[in-house]
Amino acid sequence: MLSFPKGFVWGAATAAYQIEGAPAEDGKGPSIWDTFTHRPGVIADGTNGDVACDHYHRWPEDVALMRALNLDAYRFSIAWTRIQPNGRGPANPAGLDFYSRLVDALLEAGITPYVTLYHWDLPQALEDEGGWLRRGIVDDYQVYADLVTRALGDRVKHWATFNEPWVFTWSGYALGEDAPGLKLGARGALAATHHALLAHGITLPLIRANVSDAVAGIVLDLNHVEPASDHPEDVAAARRWDGCQNRWYLDPLFKCHYPEDMLKLYGSAAPDVLPGDLDQICAPLDFLGVNFYRRSVVAAGTDLPPIDMQRHSPAGEYTEMGWEVSPNGLYDILKGVSDSYHPQAMYVTENGAAFADVVTPDGAVHDERRAHYLRKHFAQARQALSDGVPLKGYFVWSLLDNFEWACGFEKRFGVIYTDYATQRRIIKDSGHYLAQMAAS
Ligand code: FCB
Repeated sequence: MLSFPKGFVWGAATAAYQIEGAPAEDGKGPSIWDTFTHRPGVIADGTNGDVACDHYHRWPEDVALMRALNLDAYRFSIAWTRIQPNGRGPANPAGLDFYSRLVDALLEAGITPYVTLYHWDLPQALEDEGGWLRRGIVDDYQVYADLVTRALGDRVKHWATFNEPWVFTWSGYALGEDAPGLKLGARGALAATHHALLAHGITLPLIRANVSDAVAGIVLDLNHVEPASDHPEDVAAARRWDGCQNRWYLDPLFKCHYPEDMLKLYGSAAPDVLPGDLDQICAPLDFLGVNFYRRSVVAAGTDLPPIDMQRHSPAGEYTEMGWEVSPNGLYDILKGVSDSYHPQAMYVTENGAAFADVVTPDGAVHDERRAHYLRKHFAQARQALSDGVPLKGYFVWSLLDNFEWACGFEKRFGVIYTDYATQRRIIKDSGHYLAQMAAS
């Protein structure tokens, strides 16, 4: 058994839209994901998150399962439209109560809540005014964050402003694969990114004002990038992809500027930056959360203009998502980011794998491959820790199988199996393995 230092945090993660269901209950308003999933043809299996894991009604059972997994911590997100159904105005007490009860139950179970304020489910009413493309969204986000941190800040100390700004801005505003489904190219993604980063930076001091002993940060999806060959064109493409996905976020957050090479590449697609914006964006972080799923092996190509890249799939093991199993990539990204940016503390805020699970006649789910995947990644995290990375904890994605965005329910990431027909949960073998790690 791998051994981690005392105090190392073991957890599992989820996101509101992926598990809660109850899209219009207790005054909740529609988010862009409620709207998007009801458009024909956008979700692979034609499903939506209207019921999902029915966590809105089954959360006591889910907290009991977390306890059975011996988790120290649980990372979840707040649905903005439960708090402000139309994105503005006073808090809806029923929405706040739901999260308040959840937080109380977690604390009672000895599980520390790690809250993400924004995991992609923007109020539709705000999207109708331009969503993340509109600079004024920064003010709306701040008001929302203020309401939530005031209400829960006496009990919740760990806060992340955003989950994966690359994904919701590029997939949502440039490529149209995620909500709100706009295909505006790099210009759209970069404007949305700038406003999200600004909202992040402006909100950090507010969180600290509302929450005593706050631990506040942001969660990024980071990929260790390698060129597909030594050919200078592939090396340059790899550098561009690293600039697009990693450095475009890390540089402003830690070094108060966007990367020069990328500014040049983006040219007129670069965002409008006002004086003072970058100083606000690089407000000190208490932690950086890293979501890691795979490394990127990249050649020159025509994808994602002006990045002009092509992903390569080297021989190896792949998950159901078509993502390469590349545990060394986790070490490389943790060590690389720690050496270049010196965050005070880091967490793996998501890591996990989709595999095709089957319930065997004995009623169990023997997901050896997932357990093996986790073991290999935990080992790399342990090595990073030994090599000086300030890694404080590890959250597995995901606590339970759930609505995997544009893939619908076909891809199962849970360490707990969800039988969607009956909402029965079954702890998978990977969950038992996680429970052992957490207990030790
Ligand atoms: C990440 C998301 C998370 C989940 C995993 C598989 O990009 O943050 O919600 O969908 O991918």
